[in-house]
Amino acid sequence: MSTYAETSFNSQQYDNSRPNYPEPFYCELINYHKVKGDTQLAVDIGCGSGFVAFKLLEYFDHVIGTDPSSTMISQCQTNIPKLPENKTIEFTIGSAELQPSGILPASVDLITGAECCHWVDHAKFYTESARILKRNGTLAYWFYKDPVFVGYPQANEIYENYTYNSSREVNPDDEFERYMGPYYQQPGHDYLRSLLKEKSPPSDLFYDIVRHEYVSERDGSPHNDEDAYVTKTPLFIRKVIDMTWFLNYVKSWSAYHTWMKEHGDKYDIAEIFVDELKKEMGWKDDTKVEVIWDTVYTFARKK
Ligand SMILES: C[S@@+](CC[C@H](N)C(=O)[O-])C[C@H]1O[C@@H](n2cnc3c(N)ncnc32)[C@H](O)[C@@H]1O
Repeated sequence: MSTYAETSFNSQQYDNSRPNYPEPFYCELINYHKVKGDTQLAVDIGCGSGFVAFKLLEYFDHVIGTDPSSTMISQCQTNIPKLPENKTIEFTIGSAELQPSGILPASVDLITGAECCHWVDHAKFYTESARILKRNGTLAYWFYKDPVFVGYPQANEIYENYTYNSSREVNPDDEFERYMGPYYQQPGHDYLRSLLKEKSPPSDLFYDIVRHEYVSERDGSPHNDEDAYVTKTPLFIRKVIDMTWFLNYVKSWSAYHTWMKEHGDKYDIAEIFVDELKKEMGWKDDTKVEVIWDTVYTFARKK
């Protein structure tokens, strides 16, 4: 997934327009980890703008964030705050498949991978994770899929078209491709869609494997009440958004950047998408809508 590595990629905008992960999820993760794991070193892979790595400092003495994108790593490095003397954090280029040589074999207590492990080569990722983890260390990865407009099936259909479909499949003579489906890297986007059901940490390297998915209510009534859901998953992500926020969210997608490289001199696919939503749904830039993300997490211990 090279889009995030491009210097034109706006990592600050990315940071502002993406969901964060809830406190109950970090509690679930740390409770799982602490059954057998230590808290000296955590490595956050695909760290992006670094917010998971910074969060891990609450629990670990040393944290290393790695990402193949130098744009992301530079942003993280400029954001390092002054830390207490017993804590350190560093950011360095590395991938799920090949971590930097500074991370020694059997040295890591916890590996986290948020919103990135659908893009990786899974066989290499599991082998590399097992290589750097200590015995009984934890591999934890998770992600959210698409925001679901609760109570608005028509909006969800429009979303599905722009995210997964190709207008040219229906109308080969279309002047240009009106959807972003063909502009996603595969098989990563299919793995995202299936909540990565196809892949699991191999049982010769890992044990105590937990996989938990949450598929949100699609077309029920908006709740505006977080308590109605929190029992369903600790990784519960809900937001009340408006179309201005949603426009920036679409602009943070890798497929948006790939699409714009081909057609951006004439059109902006995020604006076309949001204009259609507004027109069909009667929404304005500041109309408030509830969205909930389908999520999945996997925890496993190194043998
Ligand atoms: C959607 S961002 C997620 C960032 C952050 N972890 C979060 O939760 O928002 C995906 C990140 O995965 C990184 N990435 C892409 N391919 C990767 C790979 N093979 N190994 C590790 N990270 C990868 C990208 O550079 C990007 O920063």
